[in-house]
Amino acid sequence: MPVAHSRARRALKGLAIALAALAGTFAAARLAQACSGAAPEPSGTETHFPLMYGDRPTVRQLADLGRRIFMDPAYSASGKQSCASCHDPAKAFGPPNGRAVQLGGPAMDRMGFRNTPSLAYAHAPIAFTQHFMESEVTQGLDDEGPTGGRTWDGRVDTAHDQALMPLMDANEMANASGADVVQRLLKTSYADEFRRTLSAPGENVFNDPDSTLVWVTVALETYEQSAPEFHPFDSKFDAWLNDKATLSPAEMRGMALFNDMKKGNCASCHPSTRKASTNRPPIFTDFGFVALGVPRNPELPANRDPKFFDLGLCGPLRTDLASHPEYCGMFRTPSLRNVALRKSFFHNGAIHSLRDAVAFYATRDTTPAKWYPHAGAKPGYDDLPQRYWANVSHEAPFAPLPDGRPRLNAREIDDIVAFLGTLTDGYKPQGANKHTVAAK
Ligand code: HEC
Ligand code: HEC
Repeated sequence: MPVAHSRARRALKGLAIALAALAGTFAAARLAQACSGAAPEPSGTETHFPLMYGDRPTVRQLADLGRRIFMDPAYSASGKQSCASCHDPAKAFGPPNGRAVQLGGPAMDRMGFRNTPSLAYAHAPIAFTQHFMESEVTQGLDDEGPTGGRTWDGRVDTAHDQALMPLMDANEMANASGADVVQRLLKTSYADEFRRTLSAPGENVFNDPDSTLVWVTVALETYEQSAPEFHPFDSKFDAWLNDKATLSPAEMRGMALFNDMKKGNCASCHPSTRKASTNRPPIFTDFGFVALGVPRNPELPANRDPKFFDLGLCGPLRTDLASHPEYCGMFRTPSLRNVALRKSFFHNGAIHSLRDAVAFYATRDTTPAKWYPHAGAKPGYDDLPQRYWANVSHEAPFAPLPDGRPRLNAREIDDIVAFLGTLTDGYKPQGANKHTVAAK
C-alpha cells in the first residue's frame, strides 16, 4: 500500500480530516457547545457512560473536578507530580522545560522514552484506524494508511483510558493500583464534593473503588475535552484568519513556504487552511502516521542499550501491530499549534530548538552528518534499524531540489519559524481598541 504517496495528496484536502473527527465526535460536539454557552448545558456522562443520577453530573461539575485532579500532585507516588507537571497549562499543556523526557516515578528520578505532547487541540482525534478512508474528497476510495488515536503511537482511543496510563506508569505518577488512586482522592479537600456529585442516589461511590476510578478518569477526560483553555483558537494566526491582525512579511513568506507543495510542503501533513464547509480553524495535524527518521537521542536512558529502538506504531509500547514491519518507525503527526512554546521536539525530544526542527526537514538528506553525527562515510537513520529505512518519508521537504540543494535555504527556514510563532495562543491584537473591535 503506497502510504507515503496517498498521504502526500492530503495537501489538497486541507482540514477535512480533522474536522470530520471534530464533527463526528458526538461527545466533543456536545461538550464544545457547553463551553461556548450556545446550548443548554448537557449532562456530563451520557456521551461517555450511560450513568446519570437525575440531572447530575453536569459537564461543568465533572470538568471542575477534573481540573482539580489534573492540577493535584496528591495522585503521584512522589507526592510531587500532577498531570500539569508534565502538561503545563502555561505551555499549552506541553512540557514545562527543555528536557527531552520529563522525570517521574516515586523518587522523581525515572525517565521513560517519550516527549510530552501538548494536550491543547487534542480533544477530538480520530479513533485509530489502519486504513483511513477520507470520504469528502475521494468518496472514501483512497486508503491513507494508519491515522488517529492518542499518544505518539495512537494506541489509546479515549481520554479516560489515557488518564489511567500516567497514573499507573512506574516512570510517571507510579500508583501501584487503582485502589491507591482512590485512597489519595479520599484525602483531598474535594473528596466530599466528588462523593455528592458522583454517588448514585442513596449510595456512596467511595464504597465501590472501581467506579470511583472510572469517575476520576471521566472527570479528567471531561476537563480536557470541554475546558476552553484546551482550545482557545486565539493565536495571531487566528486573529489574522479573522482579519484582526496582519502578519509580518517574514510570517507571510513563512506561511507561503509552509503551504507550497514544492517547498516546505508542511501543510500536506500539518493542514493549515480552514475548510469551506465548516467554520473551524485548522489544527495543523491530519493525525497521520509517518516515519521521519528522527535522530536517536543519547539523553534517554533506554537508548544506552544499542538494541533498544522505539519503533512507534510497531512497538514496543504498542503491541497489536508488531507483525507489520511496514509501520516501524512511524509516529503520529502532532498539532503545530503552540509549537513555539516547546523546547524539545519530536517523539524522543532529540531536537532542542524549533529552528533545528525545521532545518532537520530541509537538510536531513542533504547534510546527514549534521543530524546523524556518528562515524561512518554514509550516516543514516540511526534510530531505526536499517531493515526499516524504506519506511522513511522522502517527499518534499526532504527530497532535495534537482540540483541537490535543500528545498529550503537558511532564510526560508527562518521565515517558517516566524510563521510557526504566529500559532501561539494568547495573542492580543495590537491597536485593537473598542472602536475597531466594535466595527467588525
Ligand atoms: C511524567 C510526565 C507525564 C505525566 C505526569 C502525565 N503525562 Fe500525559 N503524556 C506524557 C507523555 C510522555 C505522553 C505521550 C505518551 C506516548 O506517546 O506513549 C503523554 C500523553 C498524554 C495524552 C495523549 C495526548 C495525545 O497527543 O494523544 C493525554 C490525553 C495525557 N497524556 C493526559 C495526561 C493526564 C490526564 C495526566 C494525569 C493523570 C497525565 N497525562 C500525566 C507525559 C506525562
Ligand atoms: C510527511 C508528513 C510531514 C510533513 C511533510 C511535515 N511533517 Fe512535521 N511532523 C510529522 C510527523 C509524523 C511528526 C512527528 C515525528 C516524530 O516525532 O517521529 C512531525 C513533527 C513536527 C514537529 C515537532 C513537533 C513536536 O511537538 O515535537 C515540528 C516542529 C514539525 N513537524 C514541523 C514541520 C514543518 C515546519 C514542516 C515543513 C517544513 C513539516 N513539519 C512537514 C509529519 C510531517
